[in-house]
Amino acid sequence: MSVSASAPVIPVTRTSSPRPHPAEDALGFGKYFADHMLVVDYTEGQGWHDARIVPYGTLALDPAASVLHYGQAMFEGLKAYRLMDGRISLFRPDRNAHRMATGAGRLSIPAIDQSLFVQGIAQLVATDADWVPSAPGTALYIRPTIIATEPFLGVRASRTYTFYVITGPVGAYYAGGLKPVRIWVERERVRAVRGGIGAAKAAANYVASLQVAEQARERGCDQVLWLDAIQHEYVEEVGTMNLCLVIDGTLVTPPLGGSILPGITRDTVLTIARDWEMPVEERLVSMTEVRDAHAKGTLQEVFGVGTAAVVSVVGTLASEDGDIVINGGEPGPVAQKLYDAITRLQYGLDPDPRGWRMVL
Ligand code: COI
Repeated sequence: MSVSASAPVIPVTRTSSPRPHPAEDALGFGKYFADHMLVVDYTEGQGWHDARIVPYGTLALDPAASVLHYGQAMFEGLKAYRLMDGRISLFRPDRNAHRMATGAGRLSIPAIDQSLFVQGIAQLVATDADWVPSAPGTALYIRPTIIATEPFLGVRASRTYTFYVITGPVGAYYAGGLKPVRIWVERERVRAVRGGIGAAKAAANYVASLQVAEQARERGCDQVLWLDAIQHEYVEEVGTMNLCLVIDGTLVTPPLGGSILPGITRDTVLTIARDWEMPVEERLVSMTEVRDAHAKGTLQEVFGVGTAAVVSVVGTLASEDGDIVINGGEPGPVAQKLYDAITRLQYGLDPDPRGWRMVL
């Protein structure tokens, strides 16, 4: 994928006070922000208009703005990678554009034009190119967001919106290789329900998770395993990531049934595993099956997949029924091989037969 030469150029107002760059060995996640942001407005009847790149700064919002009352807000997440030759690459940004446009419908948010999304981000990242870190495992995290801005307290969709994109350097999620995490299996509260908004990257899905995640941490767990909202039995997501299991040599992931986010890393993982001719199944997996497979010794691996960490290995599933320790609490070969293959693609170390890299 290459940046179209005919893309309209978005006007840039450069900051007069660039921020100091943080040290690349202590970036963490989501703590630092680059100098500029992309902003685009939407007005009913006019569509999306006035795209501009401006210094990073606060937004002015009317206290009646509908995002603050009825939660019309959604976001995306992707990264820009520094390649070995110094160039910068995005990874499958068209998928984020497509997901944001698709999810917007369910939230009554007008879809953002997909080429404006991709070209706007490419231009923003090029403007802040010096913010793309180069230490191993680091990247520039990109956070596109849409909020409803109309000052109106009646309950209906807003007639005005702001799309903005901020970015910031982030570190490798696991500095010392894949570190297995301990996960709380939540039997009562749910992240999303089929027919709800779980398939959109709505801000509201994340607020639904916070209390449960906090209590999981109090129990010594790093994150939560989300089960389906009706039977509280079928596995859905883990933390903020899609869930994969290796059961008797088959890579298994729950199907996208409306309550699960259609992850781009999920799609990348499934595509690569199929390329390897590994058996792949998208099907329901119950906690009973997980326990039985564990008892039989066929539950070989469990891991989350997402943009932020790429792959996050589940070492233990903890619940009131006791711990299920997977692969002796160690990362398994499939998680490791997928992590290596995806990061090598993202950083330009392997050929890219599908054109997933968009080199700026
Ligand atoms: C991911 O795991 O990639 C996410 O979506 C995390 C993000 C909400 C910080």
